[in-house]
Amino acid sequence: MEAEVVVNNISKRFGDTVAVDRVSFEVYRNEVFTLLGPSGCGKTTTLRIIAGLERPDTGRIYIGGIDVTDLPPQKRDVCLVFQEYAVFPHMSVYENIAFGLKVRKASSDTVHRKVVEAAETLGLTQYLSSRAGGISLSEQQKIALARCMVVEPRVLLLDEPLTLVDARTRERMRRELREIQRKIGITMLYVTHDQLEALMLSDRIAVMNRGRLVQVGTPIEIYDNPQNLFVAQFIGSPTMNFIEGVLRKYGESFILERDDLKIPLDNLAEYYDLERLVDREVVVGFRPEDSSIDVKGTIEGSIELIEIVGDKLALHIRVSRDVILKVYTSIYEDISIGSKVRFLLNPSKVHVFDKATGRKPLLIGAK
Ligand SMILES: Nc1ncnc2c1ncn2[C@@H]1O[C@H](COP(=O)(O)OP(=O)(O)O)[C@@H](O)[C@H]1O
Ligand SMILES: [Mg+2]
Repeated sequence: MEAEVVVNNISKRFGDTVAVDRVSFEVYRNEVFTLLGPSGCGKTTTLRIIAGLERPDTGRIYIGGIDVTDLPPQKRDVCLVFQEYAVFPHMSVYENIAFGLKVRKASSDTVHRKVVEAAETLGLTQYLSSRAGGISLSEQQKIALARCMVVEPRVLLLDEPLTLVDARTRERMRRELREIQRKIGITMLYVTHDQLEALMLSDRIAVMNRGRLVQVGTPIEIYDNPQNLFVAQFIGSPTMNFIEGVLRKYGESFILERDDLKIPLDNLAEYYDLERLVDREVVVGFRPEDSSIDVKGTIEGSIELIEIVGDKLALHIRVSRDVILKVYTSIYEDISIGSKVRFLLNPSKVHVFDKATGRKPLLIGAK
């Protein structure tokens, strides 16, 4: 796979703040690669460094195989769509889209052809002669996108482009963005703090926390196999269930203990190096869909709340004084609040983290 963007070990400080801390990743040709993380984790700074608007303290940036670290933004063959997508409100939509091409002194035939084409792709044709400031925010966002598309950059950089549009429009725009990207075949580096957006839009996701890159993978890898506690906590809606406790070993059995709660971690030794964690604090996580109500289940609790989630029931089950776990079951299950139930965890979907480091003590070659 060919890398269009190579970010090699970049760091950036602002005074005492380490905004970006030794970050490396590659963006392949024609993929949508998303930087995902909470506000302040260094996403915008990373994007601005790639665009050439910020100089890294250390590290190099390569675009299309060329070291661009010392090149100004206009020589990098990228285009950045900002969070606040400044359109020129008094200019027409046409003039807005044409702007970058005119700056680059394209012939008027070329300008016209490309503007009309981009407007067509983005559904802006009917607005071409309207004043840009007079149309909706989502249409303005498309103008900002069109203005980048027409200059045909090697890489399109987008910094939380959908934050200003309302929730319903945002969902539609996500779908449309993905379709447009496929249609025009462009490499896209997308920034968002919204995990659902990232899971929906991306070919691959890089999760950031406090300036560090903590995991890179496809949406399914990130969702199904988070490599550390931060990613496990950040991804998924609802979030995973987490139980903190001490790992004990009795005979050949590993058990998570917390006060009166004892959770057998059978069959996990095939994935995890549990020996290493015996008598230490761990965090065990599992998603509601990775457990099932079963009379032979090894965990028991009483139902505190029943929620209808699509075609499933989410049971909130109290398993000890201070632990309530969410388990999905069929909507046809005959179950009522206050009743006792037993459930099982799917061992291949149980995640164990060392509480001290947040890491998964995986056996070499497992998962
Ligand atoms: N120009 C700047 N001057 C000082 N601090 C900055 C500047 N830009 C960003 N920061 C700080 O760097 C950190 C990362 O910021 P940013 O890259 O904007 O994060 P994100 O886009 O993920 O919200 C934050 O703590 C932010 O306050
Ligand atoms: Mg930002």
